[in-house]
Amino acid sequence: MKKHLVAPSLLAADFLHLAAEIKLVNESSADWFHLDVMDGRFVPNISYGMDIIAAIKTQATKPLDVHLMIEEPEKYITAFRKAGADVITVHYEACRHLHRVVQEIKESGAQAGVALNPHTPVALLEDIIEDLDLVLIMSVNPGFGGQKFIYQSIPKIKQLHEMITVRNATALIEVDGGVGQQNAQQLLLAGAQVLVAGSSVFKSDDPNLAIQRLKDTGHEVHKFV
Ligand code: DX5
Ligand code: ZN
Repeated sequence: MKKHLVAPSLLAADFLHLAAEIKLVNESSADWFHLDVMDGRFVPNISYGMDIIAAIKTQATKPLDVHLMIEEPEKYITAFRKAGADVITVHYEACRHLHRVVQEIKESGAQAGVALNPHTPVALLEDIIEDLDLVLIMSVNPGFGGQKFIYQSIPKIKQLHEMITVRNATALIEVDGGVGQQNAQQLLLAGAQVLVAGSSVFKSDDPNLAIQRLKDTGHEVHKFV
C-alpha cells in the first residue's frame, strides 16, 4: 500500500516567524504545505491570500496544497496558480458550476480538489469523481484551527473510498480538521491518504516529531494472534 501524505497547515504556525516555520516543514518528513485561504464570507474568518502564498513559495521545497474557503473561487484560480499553488481545492458549497471550475483548475496546470463541509454528503460527487485529483473531507466546520474532530467524517471517508474504488477513480482522499495522533490510524484505515494537521503539529512542543509520528502511523492493524 502506498504511504500516506502529511500536510501541515500553516494556519497554526507562528506568523511572526513564518520563514522558520517553513524551514521546519522543509526539513521534516512532511509531504505538502497545506495553506488555508479564508475570505470572511464563505467562512466567518479571514486568513491570508495570494501575496503571502507567493512569498511562501519562494522558500518552500514541497508542494503547496491550497484550500480555498472562499466564495466565487473561479475568479481567483489563475492568481493562486501564479502564486505557486500545486493543488487547488475549492468547496463544493461555493461552486454553482463545479465541473467548470474543476476544468479551469486543471487547465491552469494545478491538481484539482473539491472539499466537502461536514453536512455535505459524499454521494453528491458521484458524477464528478473521475475528474478530481483530490477530495477533501472537512472533519470540522471550516474557518478555524483547533476545533474538535467530528466523528461522522470517518464513515464519510469510508463511503468515499468505496466510491473511488468502484469507479476506478484516482482522487486522493484528504482529511482536514482536528487531525492528530489520536485519530490518525483510524482515518488511514477508513481510507484517508492525506492527513492535514494544524494545531497538533504547530502547537505541540516538538512540531518535527509530531509530523514524524503522523508519517509513521501505520495503515495496518497489528494482530497479536
Ligand atoms: C480549517 C482549516 C484547517 C485548519 C486545521 O478551516 O481548513 O486546515 O488549519 O486546523 P487543526 O488541525 O488545528 O484542526
Ligand atoms: Zn484546510
